[in-house]
Amino acid sequence: MDQTAPTTPDLLDRARALLGANDTGSFIKPSRTQYPHQWNWDAAFIAIGLSHLDPERGRQEVRALLRGQWRDGMLPHILYPDGPSGYFPTPDFWRVHESPHAPAFPTSGLTQPPVLATAVRLLHERAHDERASLAFVAEVYPALLAWHRWLRSARDPEGTGLVAIIHPWEAGTDNSPRFDAALARLGPVDPPPYERADRRHVAPGERPRALDYDRFMHLIGAYRDLAWEPAAIWERAPFLVRDVLFNAVLHRADQDLRALAALLGEDTAEPDRWLAATATAFEALWDEESGLYLDFDMRAGEPLRENTFATFVPLYAGLPSRTRAERLVREQLQDPRRYAPGGGTRYALPTTAKDCPRFEPRRYWRGPIWLSANWLVIRGLERYGLTASAEALRKDSLELVRRSGFVEYYDPRDGTSCGARGFSWSAALAVDLLMDD
Ligand code: DGY
Repeated sequence: MDQTAPTTPDLLDRARALLGANDTGSFIKPSRTQYPHQWNWDAAFIAIGLSHLDPERGRQEVRALLRGQWRDGMLPHILYPDGPSGYFPTPDFWRVHESPHAPAFPTSGLTQPPVLATAVRLLHERAHDERASLAFVAEVYPALLAWHRWLRSARDPEGTGLVAIIHPWEAGTDNSPRFDAALARLGPVDPPPYERADRRHVAPGERPRALDYDRFMHLIGAYRDLAWEPAAIWERAPFLVRDVLFNAVLHRADQDLRALAALLGEDTAEPDRWLAATATAFEALWDEESGLYLDFDMRAGEPLRENTFATFVPLYAGLPSRTRAERLVREQLQDPRRYAPGGGTRYALPTTAKDCPRFEPRRYWRGPIWLSANWLVIRGLERYGLTASAEALRKDSLELVRRSGFVEYYDPRDGTSCGARGFSWSAALAVDLLMDD
């Protein structure tokens, strides 16, 4: 290691300082310039980091996010508690006040991968003040349950065991190639008038293309015209995808929700039913021929055949069999033509397989390394006792933050910084990985 690279205590201090600098007092911004509001899965990852540094502040982060919960249980992907900023979409763009379910202050109309129940469980397991922590779990449990129920009623009304997303932003991996075909099927789009703000702070080559943004805005336009009513959206959504990452994160979160229910002496029958249904239905997302988990485009009635890091996320939920887990590691994770260092990259894990023609090493979710993706995969590999692979990925993740700091994403070829600087979840998840020692 480079002699000038920060030591572990230095890194922990830097992470603490960054989270402090991004703290508004009520919530922690993902980054001060690019993302100055509260995001759903960002808040959960941030709370996981805070479970080590300042558990009470972690609990506050969860409470702050839950202020945005809709009356029907939906937990939105962006909260704008302080009103507009330079960020686009602006709060008014979503027109959520047209929904009878929307809360008092502005939010987006979409949701995001449900990491929150997992964060609450980790906060509790690491708490030193058992009584205060139990009181906190009892306080937030009904809201978590309501969100997980909403995901079933709104996004799996037929009770198949798999939920669907209605916009790539709901998967948190906006312009991943895995959505290209489903977005292309929209045909010519007709987005409401809008002006992007994201390229003011980040190089355009590291952000989604104009066509992707047109499609993202077109979908928002379609859903706000339906007043964000789940039943109408289910009938008419032009984009409806059973997403591997979202469903795997939900399955893991259901396990954690069940553990919280048991802790509180609540009935576990409902999460038990969800867990059984998803474990069975998830099999349909496995493609034996390619050895990958694939998203399913419900509108086209066919799988989305892209090789991205999402294929590893089921490990985090304990979904694959041991044979399948080992196959994913052998044929994908350890192959330098796909995900392993070598063959043009120095660090893992590129978010798209390198042999995919749509791999772009610096463009947002089309190839760069994200600490969140690495964290999900590391925790998944550990679950299977695949410790050498988990440790290699953990080592790369920490080398990246030592080398380039807590940035939004990293170029897998040389580890250089991409996207927003001073990015909160990179700091928070680095803390979680550092604390493994
Ligand atoms: C953005 O603005 O790029 C976000 O990913 C939307 O959630």
